[in-house]
Amino acid sequence: MSTAEAKTIQSESVRKHKEFLFPAVATYYQEPLALVRGEGFHVWDDQDNKYLDCFGGVLTVSVGHANPKINQAIIEQLNRITHTSTLYANKPQSDLAEKLHQITPGKLKKSFFTNSGTEADDTAVHAAKTATGRHEIVVLRHSYSGRSASSLSAMGHAPWRPLPAQVAGFVHAHAPYCYRCPFKLTYPECGIACADDIEELIMTTTTGEIAAFMAEPILGVGGFVVPPPGYFERVAEITRKHGGLFIADEVQTAWGRTGEKWFGIEHWDVEPDIITSAKGLANGLPIGVTIATPEVADKYPGMTFSTFGGNAVTTTAALAVLKLIEDENLKQNAAEVGGYLREKLEGLKDKYSVIGDVRGLGLMQGIELVKDRETKEPAPQAVGTVFEETKKRRVLIGKGGLYGNVIRTGLMLNSTKDHVDELIAALDAGFAAV
Ligand SMILES: Cc1ncc(COP(=O)(O)O)c(C=O)c1O
Repeated sequence: MSTAEAKTIQSESVRKHKEFLFPAVATYYQEPLALVRGEGFHVWDDQDNKYLDCFGGVLTVSVGHANPKINQAIIEQLNRITHTSTLYANKPQSDLAEKLHQITPGKLKKSFFTNSGTEADDTAVHAAKTATGRHEIVVLRHSYSGRSASSLSAMGHAPWRPLPAQVAGFVHAHAPYCYRCPFKLTYPECGIACADDIEELIMTTTTGEIAAFMAEPILGVGGFVVPPPGYFERVAEITRKHGGLFIADEVQTAWGRTGEKWFGIEHWDVEPDIITSAKGLANGLPIGVTIATPEVADKYPGMTFSTFGGNAVTTTAALAVLKLIEDENLKQNAAEVGGYLREKLEGLKDKYSVIGDVRGLGLMQGIELVKDRETKEPAPQAVGTVFEETKKRRVLIGKGGLYGNVIRTGLMLNSTKDHVDELIAALDAGFAAV
């Protein structure tokens, strides 16, 4: 395709996006990008501009665009059999479920596959309710769970909610957001007051007995908020005292993203009863999974079904991703390259006062921007400037946070320190322009 033809397609793609999609399907950048190709760490727009992709379509392209090993497995499976439905067993689905049992912590053993994080979280909520016979769930403010009625009710973000909560029974605890502590305290003198507060929340806003506590180990859409040491251990204790199960929403934090461990929750000493995930598991193919202990899974009543859940092609891709992560030591790589990235981001923080906080684990690092370090007034406009400047330097980043003032980076798990240097140079120029 000639560049002239490509340019026509670009304006057409963006124009049609604006004309024919719901306006709520917002795009990044003043001049939205239409991406046409990806290879490894890079993507190309339809003007033939090449970008270093430091967000991976929201932490979803985990091991590189068009990764030859993953694609080969996908193509072979496509030619073998694409779809069976769960009415028949299929080898990749069974093998993936077994593999997930092997790599998940504690007693987690049985999986239910779907197509998205939303469905994975919904399944977890239903499973917790049916297993316990209780109906109330403690979730966190600043959390994100997806787009179903249940997930929208669970999540802790007004900007993502088109309607008031449609499903009763979710109560929202204060987030363990140390940079903006809801109790205006400082760790560790705070004694993790936000965790202790959950007991009062349960005793004052529920029947006193809950089905579950559900949280992301790192609040992703919320701006990569990392709870302090000891937080989840204390919350698990309170949850179990009130009859609840512990659900870790690992849609963003699983598959080595946080470094060294398969799952984010493994950075705390907690054994979840249910883990949900999606995004990076199949390197961009749609997949969701809810993994539960036999005690929980065996109580899920009646029949259940997901047409595309456990699809032979997506589960094949997932198996190939997990094998690659193991073969290439990518959990360690995420820790090492993530550590290097963190060091460089701290350097930028020393240089630019607009950076209020740098936080994250492994290759999940965020930068919170503020107008003033004392007042911590959010600076979403500064994020806009950094976005435009980094785009000019052909580097793609992400954003998040309730106030839209957090830059999120999600480099691929097989990234190198050279990629970090390129990202840092672009960010440096971006902050200089603020
Ligand atoms: C933590 C978390 N849970 C659930 C979801 C919903 O996933 P999906 O968009 O695949 O439905 C997301 C999506 O960003 C997420 O970040």
